[in-house]
Amino acid sequence: MIEDLWYKNAVFYCVSVETFMDSNGDGVGDFEGLTRRLDYLHGLGVTAIWLMPFQPSPGKDDGYDVSDHYGIDPRYGTLGDFVEFAHGAKQRGMRVIIDLVVNHTSDQHPWFQSARLDPKSPYRDWYVWSKTKPKDADEGMIFPGVQVTTWTKDAKAGAYYFHRFYDHQPDLNTANPHVQAEILKIMGFWLELGVSGFRMDAVPFVIAEKGAGIEKPKQQFQMLRLFRQFIQWRRGDSIVLAEANVAPEETINYVGDDSDRLQMMFNFHVNQNLFLAMATERTEPLVKALMETRGLPDTAQWGLHLRNHDELDLGRLAPEDRDKVFAAFGPEETHQLYHRGIRRRLAPMLDGDERRLKLAYSLLFTLPGVPVIRYGDEIGMGDDLSLPERYCARTPMQWSDEPHGGFTKSDTPVMPVITDGPYGYPHLNAAYQRRNADSLLNWLERMIRMRKEIPEVAWGDLVPVDTGAEAILALRYDWRGNSVLFLHNLSAKPCEVHFRTGLDDKPLVDLLGHDHRKPDDGNTFSVLMEPYGLRWYRVGGLDYLLTRSEI
Ligand code: GLC
Repeated sequence: MIEDLWYKNAVFYCVSVETFMDSNGDGVGDFEGLTRRLDYLHGLGVTAIWLMPFQPSPGKDDGYDVSDHYGIDPRYGTLGDFVEFAHGAKQRGMRVIIDLVVNHTSDQHPWFQSARLDPKSPYRDWYVWSKTKPKDADEGMIFPGVQVTTWTKDAKAGAYYFHRFYDHQPDLNTANPHVQAEILKIMGFWLELGVSGFRMDAVPFVIAEKGAGIEKPKQQFQMLRLFRQFIQWRRGDSIVLAEANVAPEETINYVGDDSDRLQMMFNFHVNQNLFLAMATERTEPLVKALMETRGLPDTAQWGLHLRNHDELDLGRLAPEDRDKVFAAFGPEETHQLYHRGIRRRLAPMLDGDERRLKLAYSLLFTLPGVPVIRYGDEIGMGDDLSLPERYCARTPMQWSDEPHGGFTKSDTPVMPVITDGPYGYPHLNAAYQRRNADSLLNWLERMIRMRKEIPEVAWGDLVPVDTGAEAILALRYDWRGNSVLFLHNLSAKPCEVHFRTGLDDKPLVDLLGHDHRKPDDGNTFSVLMEPYGLRWYRVGGLDYLLTRSEI
């Protein structure tokens, strides 16, 4: 049955093993620590865990520079610990997906070491070489300002190698059938160890033609079909969630119009326009982005995020719109990164204002797709701007008011725990929030619980409802004869709205409070929205509980 597609209505949670929980007191998070925290994640309502890279790595890009795709960084534990973790997640009904970083490897990877030392090495053609420096070597850097080129000369190889990212991350020659076969082998390995799929890193670059002198690289979309077929042959319910920050019209090439490519993609387009809408208190850019990314095939799904481990990338907004988001959420130079994004965590971007945090989360849960929550954001963690680049938003999880936030018993945590100020662990930690019924954490847990009871968001048809107020977002979803309606006030001012739901006189039942509504004679509803207010309504009462038995 189509409802078996678990990822269509999941709640993802993104974890870095290194900074989540240290069980053995060496200052570094590990699989055993993470395993001990599975009940916390289960209690929050998480149904799928996304693990960031945990394989052996020199750690020059937080693990996105893998030096052995079949192993575990010994600092995090052993393969045995991984399997115990995967089992613990499964026992609690949670899926696990892992980062799959195959656009490039670390320059320390034995494949690259062999490739550079010997032109006859079987691995030579696993990477992308040029005898001379290509003309476009100073174009297309992903980390401008930090990265100066995309082609670097390797003295031992006597040639230039291509690297879309940092120079220590040589690109794999993904057009090489041996490389493709190896990628499948890596996926097969982890599927066998219990994962349900992959968050695939940098997908547009994985499938791009690579080489010197290629002006307009073509995308090799058939590769995505190969990946999809392989993982589903090995494990029918496994998925790929693509990191592909592409224009909306490109989407269909990634998911395939015959549902034959990737199952999920992050909706970066909606993400940027969501922040623009919040910055300008105008729903228009968000509604436009929602319309532009509507109509995925039934078996595909959007992953939605507020923040992730990278900068909030605003690169696809018009410069004047980007400036508005900078002004609202990252006005200082130290907040910004690579001239295109904001490197802060969510809570400080919103000045720690709980009303706005709840608004942002409520939007995350009610836009089309499934939420992907970043660890620590559920308690409103802050950032440490003294750390370089994106590291500022990667500090350890704050569990309690014990030293180092209860993350480790060591005095030298792998990353400094936020200690001072309003976001310091003495004030801001999971233990305190669990005891406090009104905390963000407990609110979020209730919201997740309710969201799971509203499959319409994941499966239904989206219908924007006109309220005539530019700050009030009203979205309706219809699915199998049931409808829900969500209202959000993006503005700091209260606003009374009058609107028709499009479903005549069916009353609105408030799912989060007691603000139920009946229409007036003309089938118009009136709702007074407080600043940053939100409402989740079921249209037509709770009869749906009966009709849902069709499911
Ligand atoms: C992706 C990751 C990012 C990493 C890059 C290179 O964009 O999200 O953190 O630096 O790939 O692997």
